[in-house]
Amino acid sequence: MEVIIFKDQQTASKKISAFIKAKLQKKKGLVLGMATGKTPLNLYEELIKKYEKGMMDFKDVSTFNLDEYYGLNSEDKNSYCYYMRENLLKKINIDQENCHIPNANSQDVPAHCLQYEQKIREKGGIDIQILGIGSEGHIGFNEPASSLVSRTRMKTLTQQTIKDNSIYFDDKKSVPIHVITMGLGTIMEAKEILLMAFGDSKSEAILNTVEGPLTSMVPASILQMHPKATIVLDEKAAKQLKRREYYQWVYNNRPSWQIGI
Ligand code: PGA
Repeated sequence: MEVIIFKDQQTASKKISAFIKAKLQKKKGLVLGMATGKTPLNLYEELIKKYEKGMMDFKDVSTFNLDEYYGLNSEDKNSYCYYMRENLLKKINIDQENCHIPNANSQDVPAHCLQYEQKIREKGGIDIQILGIGSEGHIGFNEPASSLVSRTRMKTLTQQTIKDNSIYFDDKKSVPIHVITMGLGTIMEAKEILLMAFGDSKSEAILNTVEGPLTSMVPASILQMHPKATIVLDEKAAKQLKRREYYQWVYNNRPSWQIGI
């Protein structure tokens, strides 16, 4: 696990977008795992800017989103379908056929989840999975006590997540309780993982993820078992890390062949 600390979200998002651009130059048909929420918004803006300047071509790229609220239709402005369309997908030259988000209205959820996993496999797996993190350490909507080997399925949100996410809803009581989310086992199969966290409210979850024990009580701690997971933070999210200086030392002294983000 590599921990990289930037001064702020803008700097981190620029670096990650440059990293994705470099990966896209090597593989036209890149498969990206996408996250929603406020954390990746700057990153998506940076990707759009690079596309508009002719620096990135998304024609052959595929995307798979981590999760979706169950029961919201794709026109609902709180759905992650709407979020992805408005914040990225309609602003780049991606083929909409290649953009996948769990179907929030599926009548047969277990069958749909199996198909979602199958589609990921058919694309050859996810090359880069972007992740945010919840204040209690969830990734995707894998809440504390999620099985560490779980697959795509329906989950019930914790009251903390419902509270955290209610800020986006006009009617605070209308946050769906159920979601469809990739499992921790699904996420762990991505070839490379970039988890981003910004702000004080994420610092405890980051401490537990990076320096705490591996436990399903902090689902993101499973990333300790991933061979290529990078945790990209701003100073506020990193503030509780005990070995912060060491992570910075490692980053500043990377051998040239290792340069990534
Ligand atoms: P946020 O959500 O980016 O809106 O903080 C992150 C998450 O819940 O995974």
